[in-house]
Amino acid sequence: MKLAIVYGGRSGEHEVSCKSAHSILAHLDRGRYDVTEVLIGRDGAWHVDGLPVGMGDALRTLGRADVVFPALHGPYGEDGTVQSLLELAGVPYVGSGVLASATGMDKEFTKKILAADGLRVADGAVLRPGTDELSPADRDRLGLPVFVKPARAGSSIGVTRVDDWAALPAALDAARACDGKVLVEAGVTGREVDVAVLQFPDGSLRAGPPLEIRVTDGHGFFDYDAKYTAGEVVFDIPARLDAAVTSRLQELAIQAFTALDCRGLLRVDFFLPADGGEPVLNEVNTFPGFTSASQYPRMWQAAGMSYPELLDTLIATALA
Ligand code: DAL
Ligand code: MG
Repeated sequence: MKLAIVYGGRSGEHEVSCKSAHSILAHLDRGRYDVTEVLIGRDGAWHVDGLPVGMGDALRTLGRADVVFPALHGPYGEDGTVQSLLELAGVPYVGSGVLASATGMDKEFTKKILAADGLRVADGAVLRPGTDELSPADRDRLGLPVFVKPARAGSSIGVTRVDDWAALPAALDAARACDGKVLVEAGVTGREVDVAVLQFPDGSLRAGPPLEIRVTDGHGFFDYDAKYTAGEVVFDIPARLDAAVTSRLQELAIQAFTALDCRGLLRVDFFLPADGGEPVLNEVNTFPGFTSASQYPRMWQAAGMSYPELLDTLIATALA
């Protein structure tokens, strides 16, 4: 089967995408898949198997594949833009379609859709381009700490924890360097737990064993360095949770997948409030990190599914 993997991309997560693709390439069964590598440079230039090509030629290559594996994170890759090119090329691809990818990349719309479906999300305010002030009413409502985030980015790039309102302008500048639209969210005190959802070729959905993220001291949260520096984080898989909490998280993760109209896969990131209340859905990732150390493949390994089997399932579902 001819498989084209697309990776790199113009987003701040270019490097992470290259690492995800490297792991995917290392685990794909080469007896089964005849692989073409399509790299998008940081500058947006396309390369097929190492050779620079125009976008038209790259699309013709993708269109000739039996299936495309978009291993892209962040804007211009995980946000529906590349997915729309694949739709136009008429080629099956792994993962969510245009709308779910675009929605999942935008934290404002992710939250609006999930909240409308009855899921609990963190309270927040959206600051659109040109707005630099959080109203006194919003400050009172959200309290401290808040997390200031670019609406459309990943891997915590541009995210700052603010413990003092005096630090808000610098945090807004950092977020605005990634996206003109910024979210200011109330911090949730509690444990951070991720759940992986996988779709099988018959359309059925399964949620894996929850993973708890424990960040070592020195990081105020699971920031970019903690995510990608060895030894800065410990994952407990399965998370040490009551069976009832585990099934509730799995149920909510599948609800989020369905509410956002996802396909193939989704990683759903929650906070478990310290007061024991309903889990707060923090964000979703339509194409979560895929390095061998990343949460998504590790959660499936803990469930008894090897990395190559996971890839085979994702590809079979894309073709179903
Ligand atoms: N956005 C990164 C890759 C993640 O969610 O794992
Ligand atoms: Mg993310």
